[in-house]
Amino acid sequence: MTGLRLDYANCLSDRVGSHGLSPQEIAGRRDEVAALTARLAAMRQAGETAYRDLPRDPARSDYISAVKEISRAHRDHTENLVVLGIGGSALGNIALQAALRPATYNLLPREKRGGPRLFVLDNVDPLLLGDVLDALEANDPGLRRTTVNVISKSGETAETAAQFLTLRDLLKNRLGDNYAKHIIAITDTAQGTMRGIVDAEGYASLPVPDGVGGRFSVLSPVGLFSASMCGIDIDALLDGAASMDGPCSRPEVEENPAAMLALLLIELTRRGKPNHVLMPYANCLYSLADWYRQIWAESLGKQTDLDGKEVFAGATPIKALGTTDQHSQVQLYREGPNDKVIGFMEVEEFPRDIEIPTGLEVENLKYLQGSTFATLLAAEKRATEYALVASDRPNYTIKFPRLDAYHVGQFIYLWEVTTSYAGLMLNINAYDQPAVELGKKATFGLMGRPGFEEFQQQVEETLAPSEHIIACG
Ligand code: PA5
Repeated sequence: MTGLRLDYANCLSDRVGSHGLSPQEIAGRRDEVAALTARLAAMRQAGETAYRDLPRDPARSDYISAVKEISRAHRDHTENLVVLGIGGSALGNIALQAALRPATYNLLPREKRGGPRLFVLDNVDPLLLGDVLDALEANDPGLRRTTVNVISKSGETAETAAQFLTLRDLLKNRLGDNYAKHIIAITDTAQGTMRGIVDAEGYASLPVPDGVGGRFSVLSPVGLFSASMCGIDIDALLDGAASMDGPCSRPEVEENPAAMLALLLIELTRRGKPNHVLMPYANCLYSLADWYRQIWAESLGKQTDLDGKEVFAGATPIKALGTTDQHSQVQLYREGPNDKVIGFMEVEEFPRDIEIPTGLEVENLKYLQGSTFATLLAAEKRATEYALVASDRPNYTIKFPRLDAYHVGQFIYLWEVTTSYAGLMLNINAYDQPAVELGKKATFGLMGRPGFEEFQQQVEETLAPSEHIIACG
């Protein structure tokens, strides 16, 4: 099957002058990149990048069978599937659903959907929660056909825990003792608060495989269960990911899309371009840009490097949508500071197209008539690419031959490995998120969790009432 293609010509100096890299500069980095490829292979061997083996893991067949089995057992009688999770325990689920199921999925009749309606609650906004709870009751009075999939590796995350307490309580009220059969937990196999609850209450559960961090977990049960419930071909998704392993392990940088992407982005960051836009020309791929934002930001944004030196590493991932943001962001991208690398996502063959009708005798609109929306979208993307090059703005394109699970799997694996390369290039730990911890602890303190009182006090002191407030009414 034809795979994704990375076109990086517009990051080269013959197109964008001193804002790009020359092929000689890239060639000069061959040995360094080959050494990083060897280091990644060693890290994988040592079990430090367990995500790498998710698509081919011999143990995969166990949990894939379990995902399919639980999905088979629940799909037919589930009308509402509610996923509770946040960050790496939700963004992949949202992205897969958006990329591979129709935009109107939840509005379609059951026979056209083929699976339950999907609601991914990845926030604690009471308005959102309330609206979703209303929708659940409206679709399924009594909630006998509602399944809750709680995803939390740690089981400690306040947002997911609060959602879980709410949905558990609701199911218990409506269904009595039977409620536990409506909850499927995805969590650590051996430890954590959620594991304890699962064991005590007897929920069906699926594992977050050992050593796989949240933002690298979409190809594990974390992302696969809701995908399978909603009719996504998870085998094709994993096959696509597995097919990227070879290309992303090649020692030659010019042959390895992950190494090339990391080299371009990290080197251009060093040369004053720390803003990395990802701009799909397909609405259904927009949520994949959200997924990318997390893996790029949380993995690479680090204060200290592996030698303990303060480096403040990282790049700011930005999402944009073509063509929509041509009328919002591209003015800035072309004429504002030349501090960005813009990544396009392009679909070469849309699964459907719509012709633009003929029949209106207006000279200025004749060029559109008889053409198609996919043709217009492709022309707009190419025009934007050209316009950026004309302003010496480096950009690249990830080309999807088709929109399907196989190529989405390839895209996910490509960015996961690119992130690993980028982490090594920056000499940072790409797999932790220490800066997220302080906010979590302060939340615990503010919410009155025993043991976190000092954080509450620190918050109150730091954010003491101030006079620097402008009242507007
Ligand atoms: O990438 C990560 O590790 C995080 O985004 C986590 O996925 C997120 O904080 C949720 O954590 P948990 O699954 O433990 O609830």
